[in-house]
Amino acid sequence: MSVGFRAVQWNRKKLVYDGILIVAVSLFIAGFARIHWQLHPPSNLPDAIDIWIRAFGTCAFLMLTVVLSIGPLARLNRRFLPLLYNRRHFGVLTFVVAMIHFGFLLAWYLVQNNLPNLVTELTTWGDYAKFIDFPFKALGIVALLVLFLMAATSHDFWLMFLTPRIWKALHMGLYVAYGLVVAHVSLGIMQGEYTLLIPAMLVGGFGSVAALHFIAGWRERGTDKGLAPSGEGWIALGSPDSIPDKGARIVAASGGERIAVFRDGGQIGALTNLCAHQNGPIGEGRIIDGLVTCPWHGYQYQLKNGCAPPPFTEKLATYRVRLRGGMIEVNPHPLAAGTEAGIELT
Ligand code: HEM
Ligand code: FES
Repeated sequence: MSVGFRAVQWNRKKLVYDGILIVAVSLFIAGFARIHWQLHPPSNLPDAIDIWIRAFGTCAFLMLTVVLSIGPLARLNRRFLPLLYNRRHFGVLTFVVAMIHFGFLLAWYLVQNNLPNLVTELTTWGDYAKFIDFPFKALGIVALLVLFLMAATSHDFWLMFLTPRIWKALHMGLYVAYGLVVAHVSLGIMQGEYTLLIPAMLVGGFGSVAALHFIAGWRERGTDKGLAPSGEGWIALGSPDSIPDKGARIVAASGGERIAVFRDGGQIGALTNLCAHQNGPIGEGRIIDGLVTCPWHGYQYQLKNGCAPPPFTEKLATYRVRLRGGMIEVNPHPLAAGTEAGIELT
């Protein structure tokens, strides 16, 4: 959060998460290399290096698949939220694993004293028009550069510097990297290696990412369609009890932004659904210690005015709410961030 805020710092949970991540990645890579080694024992050093190229490449692809699945999974089931909590470390480690994959490829050329061949492969421009023999390594290099950009700008400094909206748009580049990697493998190893495992990995990975995004989007389509405002321009939500206590209902006016309407006992307030940190879905969070708490990284806001508790300075846009004929209504026109608009039911 703002200067001095300690919500996103090293803590035991993060250390445990990172520990599990590093152990799982190491076990996968070691297991992959061991099985490959036993099935196809290498007869020389380049062949041995090739096993590590494959182990790290496969691991990076699977990690990218998981990183892109965490968002929709967390929307579909709250039990996946802890994965979201530290997704950035997952992303940075994916870049490191992909970088090592590339490092082993350089070693493969170096031990054979033919690094210039790589340059020739990448600069034989006529090959870029071919399907067979396409310089697939170039696609890997571009994907790696995109991952580097993501990893380098993952710190909160860049988030504040670029603003959450631009930062989020930039980080959509992860989908571009994923597409490039799918092409890198389809046009590369898949053309020479006749095993069903590689197409199964690509179709399974790409298919699950696409399916999860589709299902999560489908589930939320009702919210996005928006509720029609009444003649006076207010949206009727239902009785106060239709909003879960310490939780929220998310609504949107037709074509409008999503609004999170929270209830804390008898107090009702409406905030923009976009967190000031990374545009996380505030309405999927809870009220903890009297404060609306974002499910992604725990930024907190006061329900009545959308302001982070002092001394922090983040503010969210609020919306006017009222009780009419036993129904909670919300006005879909946003108020300036930090404007007091919450109501107390008597
Ligand atoms: C985001 C970056 C990258 C990812 C996620 C990635 C992923 C992969 C994957 C999944 C494979 C197939 C491994 C297998 O199942 O056997 C592969 C193969 C390969 N990659 Fe990458 N790659 C990346 C970047 C690069 C770069 C930058 C290069 C080199 C310039 C490169 C060179 C290769 C080569 C040569 C192979 C084939 C290895 C063989 O024939 O045994 N990759 N990559
Ligand atoms: S706390 Fe990070 S997006 Fe809300």
